[in-house]
Amino acid sequence: MSIYRQEIEQLIDGLGNWFADERTMEQGRMTGHLYPYEMLFSPIEAGPLKLKNRIVMGPMGNVNMAEETGRPGAKMIEYLVERARGGTGLICTGLIPVDVSTDPSIQDSDDLGSLPRIDRHRTNQSAWRDLADGCHAHGSAIFIQLTPGLGRVGNPECVVKKHRLPVSASWNPSFWMPVVRCRPLLDFECRRLIKNAGQAAADAKVVGMDGVYLHGHEGYLLDQLTSPAFNRRRHGRYADWQAFGLELVRELRRRCGERYPIMYRIDLTLALRETYRDRMDTEWTLRKYRNGRTVEMTLEYMENLVKAGVDLFDVDLGCYDNWWLPHHPYPMPPGVYLRASRIAREYFEERGVTSNLGKAVPVVAVGKLGFPDLAERALRDGMCDMVMLARPLLADPFWPRKAYAGRVSEIIPCIGDQEGCLNQIVKGGHLQCAVNPRTAFEDVLGDIRPAAAPKHVAVVGAGPAGVYCACHAAERGHRVTLFEQGGRAGGKLIPGSVPRMKFEVANFVEYLNDRVLRCVGEFALEALFGTEATLEVLENGGFDAIVFCTGTAPASPPVEGVDLPHVVSAVDLLNDPALADGARAVVVVGGGDVGCEVASMLSVEKGKRDVTVLEMLPHFMRDSCPANRGFLIHHLELAGVKLMNCSRLNRVTVEGVEVVRNVSRTVPDPYNTWVPLVPESVEIPFPFAERIGTDEKLITLKADLVVLSTGSRPDDGLYYECLRRRTAPEVHNIGDSMSPGMVLQATRAGFALGTSL
Ligand SMILES: Cc1cc2nc3c(=O)[nH]c(=O)nc-3n(C[C@H](O)[C@H](O)[C@H](O)COP(=O)(O)O)c2cc1C
Ligand code: SF4
Repeated sequence: MSIYRQEIEQLIDGLGNWFADERTMEQGRMTGHLYPYEMLFSPIEAGPLKLKNRIVMGPMGNVNMAEETGRPGAKMIEYLVERARGGTGLICTGLIPVDVSTDPSIQDSDDLGSLPRIDRHRTNQSAWRDLADGCHAHGSAIFIQLTPGLGRVGNPECVVKKHRLPVSASWNPSFWMPVVRCRPLLDFECRRLIKNAGQAAADAKVVGMDGVYLHGHEGYLLDQLTSPAFNRRRHGRYADWQAFGLELVRELRRRCGERYPIMYRIDLTLALRETYRDRMDTEWTLRKYRNGRTVEMTLEYMENLVKAGVDLFDVDLGCYDNWWLPHHPYPMPPGVYLRASRIAREYFEERGVTSNLGKAVPVVAVGKLGFPDLAERALRDGMCDMVMLARPLLADPFWPRKAYAGRVSEIIPCIGDQEGCLNQIVKGGHLQCAVNPRTAFEDVLGDIRPAAAPKHVAVVGAGPAGVYCACHAAERGHRVTLFEQGGRAGGKLIPGSVPRMKFEVANFVEYLNDRVLRCVGEFALEALFGTEATLEVLENGGFDAIVFCTGTAPASPPVEGVDLPHVVSAVDLLNDPALADGARAVVVVGGGDVGCEVASMLSVEKGKRDVTVLEMLPHFMRDSCPANRGFLIHHLELAGVKLMNCSRLNRVTVEGVEVVRNVSRTVPDPYNTWVPLVPESVEIPFPFAERIGTDEKLITLKADLVVLSTGSRPDDGLYYECLRRRTAPEVHNIGDSMSPGMVLQATRAGFALGTSL
């Protein structure tokens, strides 16, 4: 086996249990030991361009951030300029199609689309110009990410809405609906894409973009055409899997000249074999993709790309079919692909590869690098030449400025949930951020105004909603008393951060506490930890406004036996993991995020035991981001956890549980992570797509511990009591105690109320 293959295998194998390693855990903390960050903030040349520091903003799709014509809107411009204002050296847009007619999955049926466009006409160009000027005004350069298309990972609804098959490099199943086949692009269509890419690059240069960035990773159309996994053409010009990419780069050079920077994003390998092993030979959708580019092939291709005109690269791994590899959810390790960038960097060094301008070809590392010490260490150790931050800059656009000034504890850490960012796009929205309510709303949520008339405000509960509300209100000049029964801020995120794989949530809890402390020091905020806000306290406090952020209480299913001593709630178990000591057989009831995380903690972190998770619905983690869902389910399978879908808890007994299980052959494979769940609103145009029969059986499972993870209900009793009694002129209820949701909803509510009280 080649040394590279071995290295990638080790990397993939380590993803499920890396958190046992204290050193790697430490790298995922927001520490400032290596301050001042001399490497991070040293200038670098990217082709002919000089950048002020080594921080690159990762491209993130500006879906639904442009006007329907594709003209970048204020939302997109303000969002990107804010990251320039925050100190990032090189800003990148998300993917921008070079044309919208060749790949029918890009545009909606009525010629309206959700992606920005540069290919259209001159009226669009003025907005691109404003964007470039806005970034330059803050000393940042900006690249536009150009994509030939989406191909098999685009929206297959074009079959019904436009009566056109989606396209790819060969006959490939659509990722979202494998029953839909994507047809191979004809050679002349490929040439049209190349020509249009040249035009888009020429336009980009004219409007002031500092370079173009090719979208060649993650199994998008460019990757499909340049990987033998997807490109199995036997005839024609593009049967050579390198041909399309090389021709594309030469065309960009032809249109833009020798001194216009070209960056290329590539996966070193799809890593499908390393992910799915034998399944690559048995699952029909995967079987087609057995022969992906090896690392050696990719490196040789990259060298040829440099000869064709590429100036710099960034490298990652994976594609949609193992989506957690390019879109790392919270359980993946910090600096996950530093090994990949090191491989490329060493290859260039050993072979003396230089660009056509005779300069070194920088390699940018990407993937969970939002920890300043880790980023600096990676540069100092020669793992990469620059670091790319995508989600960390959604969480905190001022990451670079804060790191430069040594204010590391003030950086808002990304929590890896992908609820605000990736999943919003999957569900048909635009990116935003769970921990930063201003992200992608910079155009409407400008500077926060001081309170017109300072009030005395009580905030009850210091979860994320309470902390955001209390701190914003205090920063605006209100006098705020924050009540919290527990000993610190964080609410349900405190138990939620107990599994070691939730290290990013633990960072956020630390940030929340730090922020409260800072506000106590600087503003009129009084934080009363370990204090219950009783009705009496609230009635006698003389408050002008009371804000309840009291969270939730667990909801138990109405089932016989749930009060037996070996039954615990997931929250109780997370608060006291010792409750699982000695339990050999555990049944977790409820296959949402929390149930699956508890199962992972019990099976991976806390020693080997028999763990089964029951889920009533056909799918586990139905609403979670597909990348997060895929990671957790895949690794639960590797850890030997039994997942039983379409299975209802009937009763708990002293020996275990009784379950009504649908054993019909049509029940979906719960371990399937290579075919995604489409949003419920999308109707699969084939009647046999997912019809589940009913063949129920009563089964018993032995269990010496039963964990209930069956949801929660708002803890809103005191709120309604105060509302009824008119305890204060203003009484509000926000966050989970209004409606149980995600961190995204909680911080948004806290921000909205805290900035408007
Ligand atoms: C919401 C979202 C949208 C993304 N869109 C793109 C995209 O348009 N083009 C692209 O190459 N990568 C895209 N990515 C991947 C990121 O550029 C980056 O590789 C990934 O988030 C890992 O980096 P991080 O850990 O710094 O976030 C996207 C990621 C997110 C979270
Ligand atoms: S939504 Fe979550 S994963 Fe995405 S950037 Fe924000 S904190 Fe990070």
